[in-house]
Amino acid sequence: MASPISDIEQAAEVLRVGGLVALPTETVYGLGAAEDPAAVARIFRVKGRPPSHPLIVHIAAADQLDDWVETVPDTARLLAEHFWPGPLTLVLRRGHRVPLEATGGLETVAVRVPDHPVALALLSAFGGGVTAPSANRFGSVSPTTAGHVRAELGDAVDFVLDGGSCEVGVESTIVDVTSDIPSILRPGGVTREALEAVLGRSIAVPSTSHVRVPGQHPSHYAPSARVVLVEPERVVAEAELAQEAGHKVGVFVPTGFADAAVKAHAVVTVPDSVDAYAHGLYGYLRKLDQQGCDLIIASLPPEEGLGLAIANRLRRAAGPRPSR
Ligand code: TXA
Ligand code: MG
Repeated sequence: MASPISDIEQAAEVLRVGGLVALPTETVYGLGAAEDPAAVARIFRVKGRPPSHPLIVHIAAADQLDDWVETVPDTARLLAEHFWPGPLTLVLRRGHRVPLEATGGLETVAVRVPDHPVALALLSAFGGGVTAPSANRFGSVSPTTAGHVRAELGDAVDFVLDGGSCEVGVESTIVDVTSDIPSILRPGGVTREALEAVLGRSIAVPSTSHVRVPGQHPSHYAPSARVVLVEPERVVAEAELAQEAGHKVGVFVPTGFADAAVKAHAVVTVPDSVDAYAHGLYGYLRKLDQQGCDLIIASLPPEEGLGLAIANRLRRAAGPRPSR
């Protein structure tokens, strides 16, 4: 669990020499590198991610934000004060210090302060910004334990810091604050309602974004098994039909349902609490893959609070796939 100081120092040294460190955050594990074009290029190679897709710069504290961006508008300052450290990423105009390799050539940069003691200790020991996408292969499910990272990336990572399982379980909320009207580019750990309460206005969640946010493309956050979404009252019936038709079906059923009675290959009981659901979501998808399911049947939770992020990830997981 909590890493001893020597682990943190070793990991900081790996970053200094251009290596890759998997680090725990409150959302998901990140695959971190120094703000250096060669180190950043390694992240893209290991993830199999197209280099045009921008990364998030993780910093130790809100007062360092000015070092990484051109200007900090009042709205950004307000959100940073309220939500950092925490699962909120702000998109701002890129400062000169940020290499274009990290932003996929964009003149904006995404920045956040993670709320995890191990990540914060690493950032302080390293003394700079750590560029880090989620520590999974491009398009697949984000890792929420160190074991997930090792299983997926293995030796491609130079050092894995184990900080236990990620509390939030879904990625940060990305808010574009480059214009006067902030908008949510990706729903995540900070809820729309919480943002609106602080901003004192409603905030848009565009269904498609003009900027490049790969998490918003079809088939992202996807397990190997195909994911099919149905109405809540149809989940069990559809699962049983598909199982009878020869699929190995994994099904998400609500708490309190007599899951032992469901005729499926594997059953996940979805917790009533949306926090617990978000915390468990990626682990459930991984588990159903491990259990050999080829089809996952689920329904969307109500799209409020963290339910908005869960529904977004399930929709992406169910999105069309190029060739699986
Ligand atoms: O919770 C998180 O955000 C995790 C942890 C590790 O911090 N990180 C994460 O990174 O989810 P990644 O790379 O998997 O997703 C980052 C998203 C991508 O969809 C990317 O397109 C978007 O942030 N992004 C980065 N820079 C951007 C920019 N300048 N404009 C718009 N979107 C940006
Ligand atoms: Mg990701």
